[in-house]
Amino acid sequence: MIDRLEALKARALEELAQIGDVPDLESWRVRYLGKRGALTQVLRGVGTLAPTDRPVVGQIANELKATLERELADKRAGLEAAARAQEIERERVDVTLPGRPIALGQKHVVTQVVDEIADIFRGMGFQIAVGPEVEWDYYNFEALNIPKDHPARDRWDTLYVGGQSRPGEVLLRTHTSPNQVRVMEKTRPPVRVIVPGKCYRYEAVDATHEWMFYQVEGLAVDESLTMADMKGTLTAFVHRMFGPERRLRLRCDYFPFVEPGAEVAIDCHVCHGAGCTLCKQTGWIEIMGAGMVHPKVLEGVGYDPSVYSGFAFGMGPERIAMLKYGIDDIRLFYGNDLRFLRQWK
Ligand code: DAH
Repeated sequence: MIDRLEALKARALEELAQIGDVPDLESWRVRYLGKRGALTQVLRGVGTLAPTDRPVVGQIANELKATLERELADKRAGLEAAARAQEIERERVDVTLPGRPIALGQKHVVTQVVDEIADIFRGMGFQIAVGPEVEWDYYNFEALNIPKDHPARDRWDTLYVGGQSRPGEVLLRTHTSPNQVRVMEKTRPPVRVIVPGKCYRYEAVDATHEWMFYQVEGLAVDESLTMADMKGTLTAFVHRMFGPERRLRLRCDYFPFVEPGAEVAIDCHVCHGAGCTLCKQTGWIEIMGAGMVHPKVLEGVGYDPSVYSGFAFGMGPERIAMLKYGIDDIRLFYGNDLRFLRQWK
């Protein structure tokens, strides 16, 4: 019996030494120390021994059991420590390495210029409004004093989207001016708003024309506003946008929704009026259209033109950006060339 125990011990310890992971260790435990394990079998046989032998064999067997249990615990602790060490190694992070750079986008240069324009007018008490890009013919034209067969419609090459159910009624707005009407319909004077947004035209694209571009519309209506208010406001804008030394020139121009209407130009910042290629030898650069809101437009929204008057203006932020940054081709803005776009952080 003692020999069997000795053999058992030798075998158990030898097997234990070979074990390399926790599941194998568990099956070893079951094999030797489990209810039907080898040692348990031997212990059961103790009862069949001569009474004098029993205490001796029993003690050896109990010692063996204690030894195996201790070895088991040591082995388990060893395996677990090794597993943890392995895991730590696998998940090792070198906190001294520089982080991976996160690709940060930036605002498109035109968005930046729109923001800048909006900020300048916000500083003068204007609010920001927005309107739909898909627009009714009514707001884009009719309510702006441009009836169906008005020859001035030729100014705006229009993309109609009405389809057959609403032929000629729905379009992509060709300018932001429809929002003059939309804003006035919803508010009473005094009105001071800026409306930035995308516009669309059926346009042959070239260095100065895009089929999609932005505009920033402006509108102020109150009792007794005059053209002097308009000129003062636009001069303040030009000075903040292009520098306090710029001069402003208003010349008569025709837009059906204003009377009088004007073309607004600034003196050329490249040649200072002497004449160069930027200003096409004229010394002046056109930057927007403007004028006093036409009485018919006021009447259309229920404002009494004998009480209220106002001025409106519309500019292209791409053009402003081109002048400000010396860009000579509008197509660069929407050509998705990141080398171009990343110049504006
Ligand atoms: N909507 C005009 C255009 O797209 C620009 C314009 C001219 C806007 C005169 C105005 C204005 O508000 O008064 O060509």
